[in-house]
Amino acid sequence: MAKSAKSSAPKKLRHGILGCGGIANAHAKALLQIPEYDLVAFCDVFRASAERYKAEYGKGQGEVFEDFHQMFEKMDLDVVTICLPPFAHADEVETAAKHGVHIFIEKPIALSVDKAQAMVDTVRKAKLKSQVGFMMRFQDGIERIKELLDAGRGPGVQFVGRYYCNSLHAPWWRMQDKSGGQMVEQIIHQFDLCRYLLGKPKHVFASTANLCHGEVENYTAEDVSGVVVRFQSGAVGVLTGTNCAIPGKWLAPWTFVAKGLMAEQSGGATQITHTDRPSPYVEEIRSEKNGMLAEQLDLLRAIREDGETRTPMLEGLESLRLVLGARDSAESGRPKDL
Ligand SMILES: NC(=O)c1ccc[n+]([C@@H]2O[C@H](COP(=O)([O-])OP(=O)(O)OC[C@H]3O[C@@H](n4cnc5c(N)ncnc54)[C@H](O)[C@@H]3O)[C@@H](O)[C@H]2O)c1
Repeated sequence: MAKSAKSSAPKKLRHGILGCGGIANAHAKALLQIPEYDLVAFCDVFRASAERYKAEYGKGQGEVFEDFHQMFEKMDLDVVTICLPPFAHADEVETAAKHGVHIFIEKPIALSVDKAQAMVDTVRKAKLKSQVGFMMRFQDGIERIKELLDAGRGPGVQFVGRYYCNSLHAPWWRMQDKSGGQMVEQIIHQFDLCRYLLGKPKHVFASTANLCHGEVENYTAEDVSGVVVRFQSGAVGVLTGTNCAIPGKWLAPWTFVAKGLMAEQSGGATQITHTDRPSPYVEEIRSEKNGMLAEQLDLLRAIREDGETRTPMLEGLESLRLVLGARDSAESGRPKDL
């Protein structure tokens, strides 16, 4: 069962990091900005990585572990931030639940729907708060669109999400069986936004290829993809991605159209054109918001208030279901019902 964090003078929550690799750096920096957290444990199969986190983010304080079972057993944690590579998800959610530890977990939460479903069931049964790392949901432009949709604008009719990069990433990243491929590991951010704005998907059709990395050893993932998602409402999502774009840049622009508005996001700026009036006007939203901090703060709020996070584990499952459906479609050459 979840530990209660409610009290008149809330105690600091004990927070551990599982997987002290690349993205955990951004989470550790965000966690250090939250005074309600004590960063007390660092776990990585490579002890040196966990030791580096202890030195850098724990300022020499905190315990280091190579085995997360021992971390959960010994540390009486309140919250854990899980930054494992997709292939490495094992029983960490079940073990956290056994010890009543609330969970932040990076996307994709697993590489199969069955595994992700088990994670959802586990957190639900243990009444834990969970947050999946879809930080694009916290963009100011997305929050403004949601506000407008909630106020009656819409319905959403189309989302076009694009993802461009050109990097070999970590060795596991380029292996389809370890990362799930570029759609599953990376473009899932855009799949998730598409669902967030357009609702329940009905079917998906995708086409993928590896056109720039055939010579790179072990590069079995796709490096170009195009996907069409039909939603139950009739709305249409289009998602494209490639790892053959500009070296050193990671770009994720999107366009969203609804009855009464059109929004375009690129870099840190979102332009919303309000088309629900005779003379459309343009609202500019410029933002340097730290999405990683925002999603961690949202989890903390949910723990403190016994509320819900913006992206509980179930959302991680549903976005995974959609992106795996796209991968199935690309493999079969046929649309996939969802
Ligand atoms: N939200 C985002 O924008 C974003 C960005 C990058 C990565 N990610 C996601 O974060 C996750 C981690 O990615 P990364 O780039 O940090 O990977 P990484 O390879 O840099 O780091 C993963 C770390 O986990 C450790 N590890 C592996 N198995 C372990 C185990 N069983 N127990 C303890 N430690 C273990 C590795 O040694 C490594 O240090 C991935 O799911 C990735 O998709 C999200």
